[in-house]
Amino acid sequence: MIVLLGGSGFLGSRIQNYLQTKNIAFVTIGRSNENNFIADFHNQTAFMKTLFSLNPSVVINCIAATDIENCEINSEYAYEANVYIPELLANCQNYQNFKIIHISTDHFYDKIRSSEEETVILNEYANTKLLGELALSNENVLIFRTNFFGLDEANRGRGLIEKVIKTVNKGHVFEAFTDVLFNPLFVDDLIKLIILSTEKFNSGIFNIGSSSYCSKAKFVAMCFEKLDLDMNLYEPISSENIKNRVKRPRKMVSKLDKASSQLGFSLPSLEDTFARFIKRDKAILSKRKKLDEF
Ligand SMILES: NC(=O)c1ccc[n+]([C@@H]2O[C@H](COP(=O)([O-])OP(=O)(O)OC[C@H]3O[C@@H](n4cnc5c(N)ncnc54)[C@H](OP(=O)(O)O)[C@@H]3O)[C@@H](O)[C@H]2O)c1
Repeated sequence: MIVLLGGSGFLGSRIQNYLQTKNIAFVTIGRSNENNFIADFHNQTAFMKTLFSLNPSVVINCIAATDIENCEINSEYAYEANVYIPELLANCQNYQNFKIIHISTDHFYDKIRSSEEETVILNEYANTKLLGELALSNENVLIFRTNFFGLDEANRGRGLIEKVIKTVNKGHVFEAFTDVLFNPLFVDDLIKLIILSTEKFNSGIFNIGSSSYCSKAKFVAMCFEKLDLDMNLYEPISSENIKNRVKRPRKMVSKLDKASSQLGFSLPSLEDTFARFIKRDKAILSKRKKLDEF
């Protein structure tokens, strides 16, 4: 049995859809009533009772405090999701034998083709995500450091592409950074690797992304073009133009050699993974448009 934590989030809701499509059994545990089991993560004993009663083979942890600005000013928000919940999961592994697939981030990297050892901590989001990884460093944990894109199927407007669409729908200009580089994967490509890993488990920390990279500005331009958005509302700018932002890395480009050699993953180019996004998610967009017109 797969137990999914963070199933109400951007990645988690797409994992749920994927598992349903493939008829793979799973349950979700979370703090809201959207989940199969509601848990109070502050109550360790109650959480353990719920988790152990499900006898999971694998727990996929997508819980995180992902609002970078909020992580900086609200340490309780950042620590609870990014550190204490991983600590709680590691503690649970002391009592029951199950594997964990933990989702982490490329936010530790500020050099093109950074290997798993080359971390740079520029803000509290990165700091707490790294502490969460440390809490989970054991032979029954697989950690994917990644970045992903796609539409938010839960329709809550999360992720870069939803931000672009929302801004353009309001008739506003979207400013995209020319100096921030990344190598993300289409979320469904990432999910396939996560689910494959539930069957063929390996422990360790692995970078997962696309084999090529580009600037956020180039990526957003690709979205404008392929999603038929009004190019007049596209504006490439330098991230330095935005003042009073929490400091972030600019070269979030991960080196994928370890995942290729040790997990046997053949990671797609950004062009290929983006093409799958257009093929799959454009249908979601047209459904949304039809619903709006209705
Ligand atoms: N989105 C990206 O582009 C991106 C890039 C790189 C890495 N990542 C990593 O990918 C993973 C998934 O990210 P995402 O974008 O799917 O995140 P998300 O949409 O912000 O969802 C976060 C999930 O965590 C849950 N959560 C947050 N704080 C919690 C708490 N204190 N107690 C219990 N549940 C809590 C939320 O539940 P509620 O619905 O109850 O709030 C939600 O289900 C994270 O580990 C993130 O660091 C994301």
